[in-house]
Amino acid sequence: MNANFKAFETRLAANARDIETLLDALLSSDVLDDEIARPERLRSAMHYAVLNGGKRLRPFLVVEAAALLGGNRQCALRVGAALECVHCYSLVHDDLPSMDDDDLRRGKPTAHIAFDEATAILAGDSLLTYAFDIIASAQTALPDASKLALILALARAAGIGGMAGGQALDLAAEKQSPDEHGIVTLQAMKTGALIRFACEAGAIVAGSTAEDRARLRSFGERIGLAFQLADDILDLTADTSTMGKATGKDAGRGKGTLVSLHGLAWAEAMLEEHVGEAEAMLSPYAERGAILAETARFIAKRKN
Ligand code: IPE
Ligand code: IPE
Ligand code: MG
Ligand code: MG
Ligand code: MG
Repeated sequence: MNANFKAFETRLAANARDIETLLDALLSSDVLDDEIARPERLRSAMHYAVLNGGKRLRPFLVVEAAALLGGNRQCALRVGAALECVHCYSLVHDDLPSMDDDDLRRGKPTAHIAFDEATAILAGDSLLTYAFDIIASAQTALPDASKLALILALARAAGIGGMAGGQALDLAAEKQSPDEHGIVTLQAMKTGALIRFACEAGAIVAGSTAEDRARLRSFGERIGLAFQLADDILDLTADTSTMGKATGKDAGRGKGTLVSLHGLAWAEAMLEEHVGEAEAMLSPYAERGAILAETARFIAKRKN
């Protein structure tokens, strides 16, 4: 194992701990100003859906992109926590019976199994809304203009033109197989948009130049495509106990993926290409870009 990968793993774990401490506090039963009450069953479902493991890759990208560009770590952690709330909401809804109908997530029963379907839907709704609360809150010590930019970018990444729109296209793709362009578009939306946001958000937190922001955004776009390609490869090649979620489902559902279209060997080669291109985008940062470059490699070689 090379030294860079060891450093990466240590940082990923340390960052996950900090994010989880913050998420645990944010999802406590303490009622915030202007909240009327926090219904305990709903709060507990939100807490369950968020604090149930997970790699915390998206918050890691926010924190490391911000660190690269000189941003404040506490602010980056709060934005990362907000993004993780959106990601976890997307997983809760993705697993619902009307969507992928999965009963295992992160090695544990999915939220609608552990609670019930209505509670899972509401937990998702509340997590999505809470993300914007976390960014807008006075405790996120950023200039208002930066908060507004983050809120707008996150809304665009999560909504009809991003994750939720991509999920709609993904479900439609079970019935009518899209061509390669269609698959790339839906994956850029359902998975890529939040990952691209993660990287761009780091630059916004740091108050970076337009050039740095665009560079991080392109890097995020590329590793976002790599991430879903790896997920589709793992769906075919990995087992449920390693993944902590059902595998072999995409083929079973006739889901249009690049793996089903072009085969495993092609997908693995394409994955390598994405990672190489993503790494090359970081060349202006030289050694300072090493952790993000390692993150791109991790996305390709991850086992779960
Ligand atoms: C899973 O995302 C959903 C996809 C976008 C493919 P992750 O693989 O990042 O899931 P966790 O957060 O680590 O559980
Ligand atoms: C999910 O894609 C993307 C989301 C927006 C949650 P998948 O349906 O392939 O994710 P997994 O495999 O269930 O994690
Ligand atoms: Mg899905
Ligand atoms: Mg799914
Ligand atoms: Mg999948």
